[in-house]
Amino acid sequence: MSGQRIAVVGGGSIGVGWAVVFNRAGIETALYEPDAERRKDVPADLERRLRRLALGGVLNEDPAVVARRTRTVESLEETVVDVTHVQECAPESLELKRELFRRLDALVAPDVPLASSSSALVASAFASELPGRQRCLVAHPSNPPYLLPVVELVPAPFTDAEVVERARTLFAAVGMSPVLVQRELEGFVFNRLQGALLREAYCLVRDGIASVDDVDRVVRDGLGRRWAAIGPFETAELNTRGGIEAHAELLGPAYARMGAERGQHDPWTPELVARVAGELHERLPPERWEERVSWRDEALIALERARKESGLFEATAAA
Ligand SMILES: NC(=O)c1ccc[n+]([C@@H]2O[C@H](COP(=O)([O-])OP(=O)(O)OC[C@H]3O[C@@H](n4cnc5c(N)ncnc54)[C@H](O)[C@@H]3O)[C@@H](O)[C@H]2O)c1
Repeated sequence: MSGQRIAVVGGGSIGVGWAVVFNRAGIETALYEPDAERRKDVPADLERRLRRLALGGVLNEDPAVVARRTRTVESLEETVVDVTHVQECAPESLELKRELFRRLDALVAPDVPLASSSSALVASAFASELPGRQRCLVAHPSNPPYLLPVVELVPAPFTDAEVVERARTLFAAVGMSPVLVQRELEGFVFNRLQGALLREAYCLVRDGIASVDDVDRVVRDGLGRRWAAIGPFETAELNTRGGIEAHAELLGPAYARMGAERGQHDPWTPELVARVAGELHERLPPERWEERVSWRDEALIALERARKESGLFEATAAA
């Protein structure tokens, strides 16, 4: 990571979160925050977050030393001097991002990637008119990025493949889990999946099927615990003898009925199931199914042990 120098533009929840990620990996960061009050708070906020990581045993350096790798600055011009990557973390407003990217494109050396943390706005919406639009993309984190490592890389049709690759290499090197979203789409992947669950959760509460607390419990004490180890496709694979194809045959019609009930008709056709199974089996060959089921249980045991040792979760459940 030597030679990397990051500009973080905007010092709110996500900006400081990114500073933790980069500083923890040993990278110097210049952070621009226009609001003077907030700017004063940034160093303490950054150090507080790092201290919490150290207390939890997931930071091996002195938090104060790590925090000193961020320089908080009050001008955008000063922030971007000699940087190798810009991570924009300003509020989610189209006008604001348009203007900010216009300024960034004019200020930053032409080969430096300009990445936006935007949750919903796509680079086509705020960068398409820029002379340097080929170095613009979205790199959408979850919150906080230093604990949830996935980052969605969403190139616009005009983004250079080489810029995407450089961003992917950087994020992987600082311990993130980059996912390339193949084309611009509202909500990307993270919020599409989250939205599907949340839409159904609202319907279940509206229709008096479950209380708000019960919906949260089903996810917190059920689905979510499993998803802390494996994703939904792998769950389908491991939950049914015969794997995901048997799962689709057995449960596909019921899921199709549930979708139709909500006005959604996207049946899992045999071709689609075969394609999903084919991709999944490249990583998880069916002959290693038993071994992987045992691994899943070991992983859930390790997570259960960590929950117990922390003493945090019983308190949350009781609260
Ligand atoms: N909060 C989340 O859960 C989350 C998750 C993923 C992505 N995001 C995205 O990250 C971005 C930042 O979100 P946040 O939650 O940190 O917001 P926030 O409101 O906490 O922080 C935004 C910061 O940007 C500063 N700012 C205002 N105008 C600016 C400008 N012109 N240039 C630079 N900075 C400016 C504000 O003073 C503020 O400190 C948004 O695009 C948001 O959609 C947020």
